[in-house]
Amino acid sequence: MIADPPSQLVDRYGRQVSYLRISVTDRCDLRCVYCMTPETRFVPRAQLLTLEEIVRLGRNFVALGVNKIRITGGEPLVRKNVIRVFEQLGALEGLRELTLTTNGTQLPRFARDLVSAGVKRVNISLDSLRPERFRRITRNGELHKVLRGIDAALGAGFERVKINSVILRNRNHDEVVDLVRFAFGRGMDISFIEEMPLGMIDDHDRAEAHYPSAAIRRDLADHFELIESAERTGGPSRYYQVRGHANRIGFISPHTHNFCDSCNRVRLTATGRLLLCLGQEHSMQLRPVLRAHPLDDAPVQSAIRAAMDLKPRGHDFQLGGIPVIARHMNTTGG
Ligand code: 5AD
Ligand code: SF4
Repeated sequence: MIADPPSQLVDRYGRQVSYLRISVTDRCDLRCVYCMTPETRFVPRAQLLTLEEIVRLGRNFVALGVNKIRITGGEPLVRKNVIRVFEQLGALEGLRELTLTTNGTQLPRFARDLVSAGVKRVNISLDSLRPERFRRITRNGELHKVLRGIDAALGAGFERVKINSVILRNRNHDEVVDLVRFAFGRGMDISFIEEMPLGMIDDHDRAEAHYPSAAIRRDLADHFELIESAERTGGPSRYYQVRGHANRIGFISPHTHNFCDSCNRVRLTATGRLLLCLGQEHSMQLRPVLRAHPLDDAPVQSAIRAAMDLKPRGHDFQLGGIPVIARHMNTTGG
């Protein structure tokens, strides 16, 4: 494989930014208890970037050295005509990887089109295999729809389908072995995610519901032999191989691991706010720059470059008390 040219996007700490996550909507057909409150208000449609503006920004980030884009939400597949974004970004020379994070409910409709658009990998969120629990965690979700979405993804020809599970104490922590068996039985990797303190929620006390990755590993050790892998992907995940299995288990542990030193990513919200860190508010509004210069990309490229100086060293997640970050996960999609 030919090495990618170095990114022109470098922050004050020398970190190269080569990965952009784009939230195409903050709306979702589910209401997961750790992500939203039942009263969560969504951004008025008039404030959203248009699909054309999303593609224009994506193109400019790639021109500056981003080689991986992940589309997130809310639930990205509920945005009308969103498939156009995948098609146009998927055709960009210089983009090595176009991926998607989804809750899976719309995959029976879209899986094939996504593969045709060039999406190679998809992450599907699934926290429980028990219908009544799934409904409790998502507030209105139907497990069978997500299971059908997973089947559709597996049948559509993605290179990789991965499961993401947010694990909460006394809600679903006793399902980690079942979730691994479910994923491995279908040839999928699985990542376990500790809940992050983004936005106020009213369902549970996050400190009480915290279930550390180390506890999950202990629970799994009774059933699987985990072998830590040295592989790092520039992200927060730690991966483990499992003896006798081809698939891997990942752990995203914001409270116990500091992965910020090797951070390579920035995030774009559905309104065009460029966030330099998931766990901080440092950001730059790109929508006004786009709209002020509809035919000239130079100003937006200078704004993106300038934003790199705002990237903070790391997050300050803490478990107790009022979350430092007021925005909920549905504005950034993780
Ligand atoms: N902490 C950790 N993960 C979260 N997600 C949503 N809200 C939170 C949170 N507060 C997860 C979803 C999905 C991914 C996009 O982020 O379940 O897997
Ligand atoms: Fe929707 Fe994902 Fe938030 Fe659940 S976690 S409400 S699926 S955006």
